[in-house]
Amino acid sequence: MTSNHLIGLLLGTEEDWPTAFEALMHRLGGISSARGRHAFETDRITIEPFDLKAVPRYSMVIDRLSHWYYVPREWLKKAALMNDVYMLNNPFTFQSMEKHSAYCAMIRLGLKVPETWMLPNKTPPENPRFPYTAQRYNKPFDLGKIASRVGYPLYMKPFDGGAWVGVTRVADENELHVRYDQSGERLMHIQAAIENFDVFARSLSIGAETLVTSYDSQKPLHDRYQIRHDFLSPALGREVTAISRLVNAFFRWEFNSCEMIIKDGEVSPIDYANACPDVSMISLHYYFPWAIKTLAKWCIYCAVTGRRMHIDSDTSTYFEIASRNDIGYDDKLVLYARLAREYFQVDDYRDFCDKHLSNIDEVMVEYVESVDFDRLLVKTVKSAFPAHEHDKFVTHYRGRLSAWARDQSAG
Ligand SMILES: Nc1ncnc2c1ncn2[C@@H]1O[C@H](COP(=O)(O)OP(=O)(O)O)[C@@H](O)[C@H]1O
Ligand SMILES: [Mg+2]
Repeated sequence: MTSNHLIGLLLGTEEDWPTAFEALMHRLGGISSARGRHAFETDRITIEPFDLKAVPRYSMVIDRLSHWYYVPREWLKKAALMNDVYMLNNPFTFQSMEKHSAYCAMIRLGLKVPETWMLPNKTPPENPRFPYTAQRYNKPFDLGKIASRVGYPLYMKPFDGGAWVGVTRVADENELHVRYDQSGERLMHIQAAIENFDVFARSLSIGAETLVTSYDSQKPLHDRYQIRHDFLSPALGREVTAISRLVNAFFRWEFNSCEMIIKDGEVSPIDYANACPDVSMISLHYYFPWAIKTLAKWCIYCAVTGRRMHIDSDTSTYFEIASRNDIGYDDKLVLYARLAREYFQVDDYRDFCDKHLSNIDEVMVEYVESVDFDRLLVKTVKSAFPAHEHDKFVTHYRGRLSAWARDQSAG
């Protein structure tokens, strides 16, 4: 008997990774497991009126749209609550997609988030009740004093930010006031800067797997991910992976990226609520095939094994570990990592991939070396760079991607 699984893609402007994902799923064909034959199809979801009782055709959805478009978000919520559709990511976790909740939770768990304060918004909400409320309850504050407690330089950034919007480095008190005045209605954090660091690590997690890379956030988008292997000691590598998994297991994110600054052996997570992470070919270049094949593996694993999406989270189990006085940071991290490992069924996922998807690396290499993929690469480069740079960047991306394929073949 064949089970058919339809994977829905909820997309905005992206073309590169969905095309690669669709092509890979098609090339893989189906798989056979103890539970019979499984066939996969992908489909791009359209936005339209929906009956709350309608039964969706999808067994799984990869969502890249509903963090800013609410019609699909409400459709996802309905499909999660009523139809058990599996989602990357669960729409009920969006509240914690603001940096703020993510900072709070991870500070409570003992992670080394730099000193962070929230400021009342410079321009208050437009509401006739505000003047009275403010007069009674808003306490005047000395911004300079708070900033000097945090220390300079510091970063001022939106509490719910993303994509560098509104993020500024503040060197002194003059700049502090200018930036605060400019922040207007946006609610801001100020956070101690970590500078002269050893390495800036960015991880990309998809289900049970985490890729840790060295990242240069100061460079242009296409040049931020550095191709460097072994840039962390094994212990730091484990810590960075453990933190990434912990964040994801805690918030029930299965597709997320996490930025961490490592200085003097200490790992400080600074930005890890990115539950619609950048997976474009332009940014990921060499790592793009890893992302596509891992997404395919995780989707297939979840669909075939019938993994259930958890709508609720299990914060108290983590907080119990956090509150223990008999153990320190390292031991807590080991316990959190164990919870995350169980949550993501890491061992079972690995066995499954060994058994049923042992050909996926080969299929991905074949695809990356195909004419189809090259066509996608050229199209992607042309849509991202001005005409006079097309030749240069086509050559550049071809080089990066064939290097990936070569490295796989070399083992
Ligand atoms: N505390 C910090 N110390 C050093 N650099 C920081 C800090 N916070 C932010 N930055 C820099 O600013 C960039 C953007 O801030 P981030 O918190 O990642 O916001 P976004 O969600 O917009 O990506 C980071 O990639 C990093 O280069
Ligand atoms: Mg960031």
